[in-house]
Amino acid sequence: MRAVVLVGGFGTRLRPLTYSVPKPMLPVGHVPIIERLIDNLARGGVTDVTLALGFRPEPFMAAFPEGTCAGARLTYAVEPEPLDTGGAIRFAAQYSGIDSTFVVANGDVLTDLDIAALVEFHRSRHAEATLHLTPVEDPSAFGVVDSDERGLVRRFIEKPPAGTAPSNLINAGTYVFEPSVIDRIPGGRKVSIEREIFPLLAADHTLWAVPTDDYWIDTGQPDLYLKANLDIITRRRAERSWAHGIADGAVIGAGVALSDTVVANGASIDAGADISDSVLLAGSHVGAGAHVRHSVVMGRVGARAMVSNCVIGADVVIADGARHADERIPDPSA
Ligand code: GTP
Repeated sequence: MRAVVLVGGFGTRLRPLTYSVPKPMLPVGHVPIIERLIDNLARGGVTDVTLALGFRPEPFMAAFPEGTCAGARLTYAVEPEPLDTGGAIRFAAQYSGIDSTFVVANGDVLTDLDIAALVEFHRSRHAEATLHLTPVEDPSAFGVVDSDERGLVRRFIEKPPAGTAPSNLINAGTYVFEPSVIDRIPGGRKVSIEREIFPLLAADHTLWAVPTDDYWIDTGQPDLYLKANLDIITRRRAERSWAHGIADGAVIGAGVALSDTVVANGASIDAGADISDSVLLAGSHVGAGAHVRHSVVMGRVGARAMVSNCVIGADVVIADGARHADERIPDPSA
């Protein structure tokens, strides 16, 4: 089974982290998001993955020099310009010569979904396309799906105004497609699969959907990226995904207090620092006696600094004794 994984977005909501690392290459529980995602695809029978790349392909090629990831063979389809989700799927599928039923996944979604079961459902319904759905409390920021009891999609509504959504089941970013879906995507321009193609398929009664309550998280925002990491070390996911918070190569000084925190290889913490609910990425440093709460750190936090609810990019130096709360540093909107 072949798959197209979309990894060519700009990752603007995860800035400043994505200034230095493309979103799917950011680690969750010490392993890049893309590797965890492909591992789950491979468990479900995917053997070949085409990465739909646009923005900055080099870090992916450097990370997987053998051309394999989690046991799957990789093909790199690099768009000449960003084509949006639908255009990217068309480009990647044509580039790699896909001509039979295939899987598509958004490169920032982590889930324990059983891919083989999704494919089986797709085949049992003779669907043209099948979407994985997940329940959320507020569906207004997502693609909302209204389907009948057999799973035939009646309506697909991308980001409905608050209070108007017909269900709380949303597009969870993993699909099974027949090759005919590619023919429906216009060439030579940006096409959103969610806004243009899914409504078209729903109108033709060829779009199906399956809700599951498997673990599911969209890692595309800082608080959710943080949560995805903490879920792995606090064992809220399937056992195969569990990881220890502290990597073997992390350097940790005397008397450091750590609770629910991921410390990467190549991160260092000086004596007496107190860190909770946080992710310290490779190259980060926390100085002596500093306090870090609910933050993601790529840069350096000075001694005795107090940092809470912050995202600190690479090359940033927080001064000794400084206080920062609820900030992104540097501020991506500045
Ligand atoms: P934001 O900028 O924070 O919205 O993130 P994003 O750029 O990743 O966009 P979004 O999360 O909406 O995209 C969903 C998926 O499609 C992600 O896996 C993106 O990498 C991918 N994606 C979005 N636009 C493109 C594109 O033009 N080309 C390719 N190849 N992938 C894309």
